[in-house]
Amino acid sequence: MKQIVFATNNKHKLQEIREIVGDKLTISSLLDIGCTEDIPENEPTLEGNALAKARYVKEHYGYDCFADDTGLEVEVLGGQPGVRSARYAPGDGHDSEANMKLLLENMKGHENRHARFRTVIALIADGKEQLVEGIVNGTITEERSGSDGFGYDPIFCPDGFDVTFAQMTSDEKNSISHRGRATRSLLEILKNL
Ligand code: IMP
Repeated sequence: MKQIVFATNNKHKLQEIREIVGDKLTISSLLDIGCTEDIPENEPTLEGNALAKARYVKEHYGYDCFADDTGLEVEVLGGQPGVRSARYAPGDGHDSEANMKLLLENMKGHENRHARFRTVIALIADGKEQLVEGIVNGTITEERSGSDGFGYDPIFCPDGFDVTFAQMTSDEKNSISHRGRATRSLLEILKNL
């Protein structure tokens, strides 16, 4: 069976994609291939980071690979926090509470609350590099609602809904989310490998 590496150790992301792909492809994680070092993610764009991660795996380990990067892009903030979404608030990063607090502060007084989540996936397979993207448009709420999900979910209300991502089931969220959309585009390509 054909093997492809997903440049992540995020169990949730791995399980999600393995369920969708089924037994057509073996999806390996970074740990599965013995890659334990931190892959640099210092590029100024989501595309740059996704490509850098996929290229790192291809160059150092030789496997066909795909890698993702996601950002929350807020219109009135010129697309911030964007590629810095995980590290928006000062500190070591991945502190969702601190990130949401800072974003709500920076949005104070702004009537335009349009934002979007954007996921970019870079795929290196059969000697080719390809990029796919998934977007969900919405608004940043005035305060947190809901306790499911992660990251900025409690303050993101997708267009067409009056609840935040954190008030949806994971199936509901996956069916409209940036990552769900990007993943389905990726699968169209993987199915034909
Ligand atoms: P990553 O590239 O998937 O690691 O995402 C980078 C950062 O964007 C995360 O640390 C979260 O802060 C944020 N993020 C990504 N996807 C989501 C989501 O589905 N909901 C809320 N926040 C997200």
